[in-house]
Amino acid sequence: MPDLLSVYDFDKRDADAYLSEAAKMEALLAKGRPLRTLSGKIVANLFFEASTRTNFSFQSAAARLGATPIVFYSDKSSAQKGESFSDTIQMMDGYADCLVIRHPEPGMPSLAAEIAGHPVINAGDGGNQHPTQALIDIYTIKKLKGKIAGLNVTLMGDLKHARAMRSLLHLLAMYGASISLCSPSQLAMGPEVIARAKKEFGASIREASKPSFAGCDILYICRVQRERFADPDEALRMSSAFRLGIGALRAAPKGMAVLHPLPKLDELPKEFDSDARAKYFEQAKNAVPVRMAILKRCCLGK
Ligand code: NCD
Repeated sequence: MPDLLSVYDFDKRDADAYLSEAAKMEALLAKGRPLRTLSGKIVANLFFEASTRTNFSFQSAAARLGATPIVFYSDKSSAQKGESFSDTIQMMDGYADCLVIRHPEPGMPSLAAEIAGHPVINAGDGGNQHPTQALIDIYTIKKLKGKIAGLNVTLMGDLKHARAMRSLLHLLAMYGASISLCSPSQLAMGPEVIARAKKEFGASIREASKPSFAGCDILYICRVQRERFADPDEALRMSSAFRLGIGALRAAPKGMAVLHPLPKLDELPKEFDSDARAKYFEQAKNAVPVRMAILKRCCLGK
């Protein structure tokens, strides 16, 4: 059965398959009938780092498919007694049919995939990759705008440390969006991510330190990833560098949808939540059908 470790593991055909399966799942969910697709399977979430949406939407997705979710939290387990990562993985592999892993260190889900016999899904590894979030984001954009190719998408925030942004940039390039990156230079996107998107897809990518929303179809913003800074004071200084004011948002184009992987802190004003262009809670809800599609494919291979 396939692992899902990085956006670099799949091509557009695979991504399309996830998106169309997710749309089917959403339609089935709307009918409200229980599904038995993964009946008898056990999906283990292994979280070595904090999570709300990813953990609970994977649990919800598993339950909606008739599977039983079980959860390992590193702060409440034998990891506290010094048990090694590889022993934990080997053991949990014996308790479940699929392992969903979040870890603060890049590469740990890939290491788990070498140890485990069952498929492994990367639910975020340090500042590296968050492939399932990027699929949710692409699904949400396509649902909102009917297409991705040719859209003007601005990615704004801590592009250096945010794994969600790194994964999303690659998928946006794969689908032919025109991409603007906006961050203070200290928090710029890794040049290797940009170079790869340009090389593989001939992507149009512009970098700016100040936002300009003229012609923008999607503004995707994320918080400063404080936990990835060596110096906490630097993280605080950076947080104030791209807080968007309500005035700038009100003046932005009427058709500009605003997305955010959440949690949001103070980069967006609370008053904006009631604006019709604020689509982040809808985006968070889309996590369930998209992760249902992912679990189905990883557990059944189709
Ligand atoms: C993101 C993450 O964990 O990378 N959250 C999420 O999965 N929805 C974004 C973040 O923590 O800022």
